[in-house]
Order: sequence, then structure tokens, then C-alpha cells
Amino acid sequence: MASAVVVLWFLLIGLPGATAELPLSQATQSCLKCHESMSPNLVESWRKSSHAQHGIGCFECHQANASDPDAIPDHNGHIISTLVTPNDCGRCHAEQAASFARSRHATTALRMRQPDGQAFDGTKPEVFLGGVMQGMASFLNGCESCHGSQVAIDPETRLPLSRTYPNHGIGRINPDGSVGACSACHQRHEFRIASTRQPGVCGRCHLGPDHPQLEIWKESKHGLTFHTTNDLVDLNRRPLLLGRHPVVVPTCATCHLGGTIGGTAQTHDPGTRLSWRTGLEVSSRTTDWSDKRLAMFNVCANCHSMNLIISHYEHLDKAIALYNKKFAEPAREILDRLRQAGKLDPAPFNEKIELIWLSLWHHEGRRARMGAAMMGPDYVQWQGFYQVALRFYFEFLPEAERLSPGITAEIAARPEHRWLTEIGGTKEEAEAAIQRSIRFWLESQPPDPGSGQPDDGASATMETAPAISTPATEKSH
Ligand code: HEC
Ligand code: HEC
Ligand code: HEC
Ligand code: HEC
Ligand code: HEC
Ligand code: HEC
Ligand code: HEC
Ligand code: HEC
Repeated sequence: MASAVVVLWFLLIGLPGATAELPLSQATQSCLKCHESMSPNLVESWRKSSHAQHGIGCFECHQANASDPDAIPDHNGHIISTLVTPNDCGRCHAEQAASFARSRHATTALRMRQPDGQAFDGTKPEVFLGGVMQGMASFLNGCESCHGSQVAIDPETRLPLSRTYPNHGIGRINPDGSVGACSACHQRHEFRIASTRQPGVCGRCHLGPDHPQLEIWKESKHGLTFHTTNDLVDLNRRPLLLGRHPVVVPTCATCHLGGTIGGTAQTHDPGTRLSWRTGLEVSSRTTDWSDKRLAMFNVCANCHSMNLIISHYEHLDKAIALYNKKFAEPAREILDRLRQAGKLDPAPFNEKIELIWLSLWHHEGRRARMGAAMMGPDYVQWQGFYQVALRFYFEFLPEAERLSPGITAEIAARPEHRWLTEIGGTKEEAEAAIQRSIRFWLESQPPDPGSGQPDDGASATMETAPAISTPATEKSH
């Protein structure tokens, strides 16, 4: 009995050299004969892994069928592949592979391509920007490093072609027909779960001027004290469950993927907890958004009161309504009118106003919305709405007027924009106009930010929009 407990203990904490290690296959022992001396640090990091302790070696991951498009038919007597794709990991981790395959992560590189899978879809603004305005080398080293390349195999050597590899983009298109790369987040060859839970793993892609989630999290109340308050948490623990284990502040993985003891199970599809798409030109609700919001509520509720959570989401909804209704929808309306009037040609980025618009929604507008979603006040304010307003009033509207005099008049006359022309005259007149403007904001109801239809672009002004009925968050209860 006592010895069984000791063995169990070794299994749990995985001491190196513990007798609990499972034997390695013949094939893997053969790999090690060469690779132990050729690539010793690679082998050493695998040796420390839970895989090594469970008898999962080089061959178990790298093995291939002779008919696989990426198979090296005779690698010193073994059929192997350099690539280890979600199909390979999924042989043993079916649940994670299935959940990942349903996510937008998995299909992001596919969605940048035409339906034939070959050519890029240049009508997507970012694709045009990377592939045409900048150039293909920038696309390969930049865009595809995060989104994923389409890996092609050299028919002679059977190695991946350098034009498409190495690549650990999250939606990589693999020769075996699978999409994604588990190793985008799981570091080879240790595959240590504590490393995967680090916010910087997500931050490899989720950072910078257009989607600064890492920076937002770092400046939020959650990120500030992560390194000291979470020091009692064993990040290697599986499962690590909110409600049972002593997590003090959440990281990206806690909120977007981790499990709780009640209601919200671990997932590899972060979209199952999102009620908004905050990255679009005009934000829209996700399908079944209130169920998805409830799934995130269940995460927050392990650490916060309902009132705090609901209030937070109300703030978020208001920030999105403000962005959509005051800036993004009017700007899109003006662009549409300019196109209809023949003032813009079909190429997406050869006119100044198109680039002003890109900065407004893709950079500053995303920062404002994502800052509000994850509690980063500087991103909401100085990096967000301040820049959106500057862009809209002092670049976008003047440029539209230059292209087509009078085109902004109707929009500029709306009460939320009237301050631009109204505040002037004597000191007293100016003060009165400022007070009128502030009263407008205090008295107006925030408009309903979306109808529940994904990609819904229905537009209404601040003045005519229906008052928000029940706060969205309460509907989900
Ligand atoms: C007889 C020695 C030998 C054996 C046995 C061997 N390898 Fe290799 N392996 C090599 C050499 C040499 C290279 C090329 C190294 C280089 O390019 O630096 C290589 C390269 C690789 C690569 C990288 C291919 C690429 O993309 O460049 C992988 C993956 C690999 N081996 C896996 C395995 C696995 C899995 C086994 C066991 C089933 C194995 N090897 C057995 C010698 C061996
Ligand atoms: C749990 C699965 C797993 C195991 C076990 C494993 N590998 Fe890998 N290996 C990967 C993944 C994932 C990659 C990244 C390949 C890709 O781009 O898809 C990789 C890449 C490689 C590469 C090429 C990339 C490079 O950095 O040069 C070599 C060489 C390699 N592995 C050798 C080995 C050897 C030797 C062993 C045994 C000691 C081993 N692997 C065990 C999953 C595994
Ligand atoms: C041949 C089966 C097999 C393959 C292929 C395989 N694994 Fe595993 N994996 C296991 C086993 C067995 C364990 C240890 C038991 C457990 O923890 O569930 C494990 C454990 C893990 C863990 C937990 C590690 C920890 O620190 O607790 C992760 C993460 C993981 N695998 C990811 C991957 C990824 C990613 C791939 C593909 C690159 C992969 N595995 C390929 C069988 C496999
Ligand atoms: C540093 C990593 C990184 C680079 C480089 C990058 N992206 Fe992205 N991209 C992302 C992330 C992360 C998102 C998700 C944005 C969000 O919702 O927060 C995204 C979103 C997108 C979307 C919107 C997806 C959708 O359907 O909603 C497109 C399209 C896109 N990127 C294309 C590109 C192109 C083209 C390039 C090169 C010009 C590029 N990206 C460069 C990480 C990157
Ligand atoms: C977006 C990053 C990301 C990608 C891509 C990813 N994982 Fe994970 N994975 C994680 C995180 C984070 C956790 C830990 C979640 C938690 O805290 O419970 C995890 C946990 C796991 C676990 C441990 C599950 C358990 O028992 O708790 C396995 C196994 C695993 N992943 C396999 C895979 C496989 C297989 C793939 C590819 C099909 C994959 N992962 C792709 C981030 C990722
Ligand atoms: C290798 C790059 C990369 C890594 C690493 C990465 N992501 Fe992403 N993520 C993306 C891209 C690209 C998108 C945009 C996908 C699209 O809409 O086309 C995205 C989208 C998302 C979304 C929006 C999903 C949706 O359904 O709209 C969330 C949430 C997210 N990522 C969270 C995470 C978390 C949490 C991690 C770490 C555990 C992580 N990501 C790691 C590249 C990455
Ligand atoms: C406290 C929990 C929490 C933490 C920690 C957190 N997020 Fe979020 N995240 C949210 C919430 C809430 C939203 C908005 C949800 C909604 O749409 O209903 C969001 C939105 C997002 C989005 C926008 C998705 C879209 O398409 O609109 C991405 C991407 C994202 N988070 C990635 C990350 C990354 C990367 C990290 C870590 C650096 C992180 N998050 C940390 C709660 C969190
Ligand atoms: C693992 C516990 C945990 C989870 C999960 C969590 N938080 Fe927090 N949150 C905290 C802690 C602890 C603080 C206070 C940190 C401090 O004071 O430095 C905090 C602070 C906050 C604050 C700032 C409150 C204030 O008084 O200024 C808001 C808002 C917030 N969280 C919202 C959320 C939302 C919304 C979610 C879910 C999407 C969430 N949190 C998930 C632990 C958590």
C-alpha cells in the first residue's frame, strides 16, 4: 500500500528518473541514437516533458503514413514527417483538437484566401495592405507568422519549402488537410502546461497598435499584480479550475479558455465566451451572444459579485455603442456616398481617406473597444477614443469635404457633432453652447448597439436610435 502511494506520488510530480516512466518504443529509441548527440538540447527538453514520462517519444509524434503528402519515406529506416499537425496531436487529444478546429483561430489563414484556397482574397483590407501596398515578403514574414502559411512540400527532399516554413501561425494550412498549429501555443518539445498559460504566449500575436490585448491586460487591475498574487498557484496543475484552486487574478487563458467548477468548461475555442466582435469596422453581436456572455459571467463570478460584472458589461456595451453610432457608422456612410458619387475608385487603399478610415477602425477604434472589454483605461481613452475623435473630426471629415464639398453637412448637423460648428462667438455664447452639448450627452439614452445579427450594420443616429431597453446583460439571466 505504502509503495503504491509512493509510485502515485512520483507519477503526480513527475520526478526525473522516477521509476514510473513508461517504456519507449523501439522506433523512438532508434531516433534517440542519432538525435541525442545531434540535437541534445531538443532531446533534453523532451525528456523533461510529461510525454517522455508517458512513453510518448519522437516517433509517436513524427510518424507518418507513406501516402501522406508530407511523409519522408525513408528517414534512416522510418517513415516520418517534420510537421506535427492537429491531426497528429488529435490522435491522442481528440477533445482539444475538435474544440480547436471549431475556433476562428483554426480557420484564420483559410479565411484570408479565395474559396479555391490558392489565391489571397485581396478584398480584405489587411490582405491588400500586406500583399499589394507593402509587398509579399512583408506578408510572409509578418501576417503569416501570426495567421499561418499554407505549407508546401518539396517533392524531392520531402521537406517543407522555405517559402512557407518555418511557420507557427495559428491557422496554418497543413499538407495533410488539417488547419492550425497546436504548437502556436504549446511550446515544443517540453509541452509544459505552465508555459502555455503565460499571457506572453497569447501576446506573441495579441499585441501592437491594432490588437493590444497583452498591453491592455498588463495595465488592467488583473495584470498589475499577476506575478506576485498568483505565486501560490501551481500553473502546471491539470485541471486548474476556478472555484477550486487558488487563482487570485486571471490571465488570458483563465478567462478565455480555462475551466470552472460550475457551468463553464475548459475550451479551445475562445469564441464560445464572446458576445461582441470588437475587431470589425462596425462592431456586431456574435450569434447566441447572450449564452456566450453567460459563459464568461461564470468565469468572473468566481471572484466578483454579479453587480460588478453586470456593470462592467454595461460600460462595455456603452463604449461600443458610442464607437459604432458616433464615429464608425457615419464614416462608413460617407465612404459609401463617396463611392456612389464616383469620387473613389475600387482599389481599397490608393486614396488618403481610405487610409484615414483604416487607422480609425482597425487601430484606434479597436483599441478603444478592446480597452473597454478588458479594463485598460489608457487604451480606452488616450490611445483609443481621443485618437478616434481626432481622426474623425480633423482628418476624415475635412478630406471628405475636399473630395465632395457639402457631403458631410447632414452628419455634422446631428446633435452629437454640432459642437464642432456651434461653439464660438462671445465667451458667454461659447459657454452656453458647451453646456448644451454636455446636457445632450447626459440626457440622451445610449443607443442599442446591435440587433443580435452578426455583421449587422444597421445605422441610426444618436438622436433617432431607440433607447436601450433592458440592459443586455440582464437578458441573459
Ligand atoms: C541514423 C541517424 C538518424 C536516425 C536514426 C534518425 N534521425 Fe532524424 N535526422 C537525422 C539527421 C542527420 C537529420 C538532419 C539534421 C539537420 O538537418 O541538421 C535529421 C532530421 C530530422 C528531422 C528534421 C527534418 C527537417 O525538417 O529538416 C526530424 C523531424 C527527425 N529527424 C526526426 C526523427 C525521428 C522521429 C526519428 C526516429 C523515428 C529519427 N529522426 C531518426 C538523423 C537521424
Ligand atoms: C508531442 C509531440 C512531439 C514529440 C514527442 C516530439 N516532437 Fe519533434 N516536433 C513536434 C512539433 C509540434 C514540431 C514542430 C513541427 C511543425 O512545424 O509542425 C516538432 C519539430 C521537430 C523538429 C524540426 C524543427 C526544428 O526545430 O528543427 C525536429 C528536428 C524534431 N521535432 C525532432 C524530434 C525528436 C528528435 C524528438 C524525440 C526526442 C521529437 N521531435 C519528439 C512535436 C513532437
Ligand atoms: C501518441 C499519443 C500522443 C500524441 C501524438 C501527443 N500526445 Fe500529448 N500527451 C499524451 C499523453 C499520454 C500525455 C500525458 C497524459 C496526460 O497528461 O494526459 C500527454 C500530455 C500532453 C499535455 C499536458 C502536458 C503537461 O504539462 O501536463 C499537453 C499540453 C499535450 N500533451 C499536448 C500535445 C500536443 C500539442 C501534441 C501534438 C504536437 C501532442 N500532445 C501529441 C499523448 C500524446
Ligand atoms: C502580430 C501578429 C499579427 C500580424 C503580424 C498580423 N495579424 Fe492579423 N490579426 C492578428 C490578431 C491577433 C487578430 C485578431 C484581432 C482581434 O480581434 O483582436 C487579427 C485579425 C486579422 C483579420 C480579421 C479577421 C476576421 O475575420 O475578423 C484579418 C483579415 C487579418 N488580421 C489579416 C492580417 C494581414 C493581411 C496581416 C499582414 C498585413 C496581418 N493580419 C498581420 C494578428 C496578427
Ligand atoms: C490559443 C492557444 C492554444 C492552442 C492553439 C492550443 N492550445 Fe491546448 N491549451 C492551451 C491552454 C491555455 C491550455 C490550458 C487551459 C487551462 O488553463 O485549463 C491548454 C490545454 C491543453 C491540454 C491539457 C488539457 C487538460 O487536461 O487540462 C491539452 C492536452 C492540449 N491543450 C492540447 C492541444 C492540442 C492537441 C491542440 C491543437 C489541436 C492545442 N492544444 C492547441 C492553449 C492552446
Ligand atoms: C500565433 C498567433 C496567435 C496566438 C499565439 C494566439 N492567438 Fe488568438 N487570435 C489570433 C488571430 C490571427 C485571431 C483572429 C482570428 C480571425 O478572426 O480570423 C485570433 C483571435 C482570438 C480571439 C477572438 C476569437 C473569436 O472567436 O472571435 C480570442 C478571444 C483570442 N484570439 C484569444 C487568444 C488567447 C487567450 C490566446 C492564448 C492562450 C491566443 N489567442 C493565442 C492569433 C493568435
Ligand atoms: C478578466 C478576464 C479577461 C482576461 C484576463 C483577458 N480577457 Fe480578453 N476579453 C475579455 C472580455 C470580457 C472580452 C469581451 C467579451 C465579449 O465580447 O463579450 C474580451 C475580448 C477579447 C478579444 C476580442 C475578441 C473579439 O473579436 O471581439 C480578444 C482577442 C481577447 N480578449 C484576447 C485576450 C488576450 C490575448 C488576453 C491576455 C493578454 C486577454 N484577452 C485577457 C476578458 C478577458
Ligand atoms: C481569478 C479571479 C478573477 C477573475 C476570474 C476575474 N477577476 Fe476581475 N479582479 C480580480 C481581482 C483580484 C481584482 C482586483 C485587483 C486589484 O485590486 O489589484 C479584479 C479587478 C477587477 C475590476 C476592477 C474593479 C475595481 O474595483 O476597480 C473589474 C472591473 C473586474 N475585475 C472585472 C472582471 C470581469 C468582468 C471578469 C470576467 C470577464 C473578471 N473581472 C474576472 C479577480 C478576478
